[in-house]
Amino acid sequence: MRLILLGPPGAGKGTQAQRLIEKHGIPQLSTGDMLRAAVAEGTEVGKRAKAVMDAGDLVSDEIVNQIVSERIDQADCENGFILDGYPRTLNQADSVEAMLAAKGLKLDRVIEMRVDDDVLVRRVAGRFSCANCGTVYHDEDKRPKAEGVCDTCGSTEFKRRPDDNADTMRTRLRNYYKDTSPLVGYYHCKGTLRTVDGMKPIDEVTQSIEAVIKG
Ligand code: AP5
Ligand code: ZN
Repeated sequence: MRLILLGPPGAGKGTQAQRLIEKHGIPQLSTGDMLRAAVAEGTEVGKRAKAVMDAGDLVSDEIVNQIVSERIDQADCENGFILDGYPRTLNQADSVEAMLAAKGLKLDRVIEMRVDDDVLVRRVAGRFSCANCGTVYHDEDKRPKAEGVCDTCGSTEFKRRPDDNADTMRTRLRNYYKDTSPLVGYYHCKGTLRTVDGMKPIDEVTQSIEAVIKG
């Protein structure tokens, strides 16, 4: 199964991708995570991407297409994958189609997660994650079960993303509507698009996504 999770910052793409990994045993390919890893490692790509990401702008298609192309060639992607945060421009959409066509493959579903802007801003402002395993939490909606201890790995260290502030979020949302939302029409025309209501509680969104996958 080859899926794209499409939606604005804070829509819940990463949260739902984590659940899909567990249920379907296919990897999550998050370009945001890959770029943050490159920044943390101080690679050439990371050096070029850091300032762009901190400002909430899009990293160049050339860089992002290259890292995805290398990633989907790896053995664990043979039975499928979940693309989270990619493609984000029409150029990237064409690029992933070409990458898959070269292997005789195509996308099964593109799942658009719709959430109102005021809710997105609130979700991003309250987000934090485990510094050890990356499990994502929220100040109000999804706190660890034991205060200050990660549910998944027991770590007591948490972190926040530098781009999760009000100014940068405004830029990220603007870029989503300008560069990424045209993909909704693009995939609708191809017949692969399905839309779910991302405003519902996390478990209900998971159920909607599973229904779309089965349908
Ligand atoms: P990226 O890391 O992809 O960030 P994003 O798209 O802005 O998405 P987020 O990770 O912010 O949100 P999400 O939808 O995963 O939400 P989450 O599940 O965490 O990109 C970061 C940057 O990297 C970009 O700005 C750009 O610079 C660069 N980049 C990345 N990909 C690129 C590309 N393809 N091309 C160019 N540049 C690229 O949920 C958010 C919060 O809400 C959490 O706290 C969660 O607990 C909570 N929550 C989730 N679902 C619900 C729910 N249903 N109800 C209540 N709370 C919920
Ligand atoms: Zn953890």
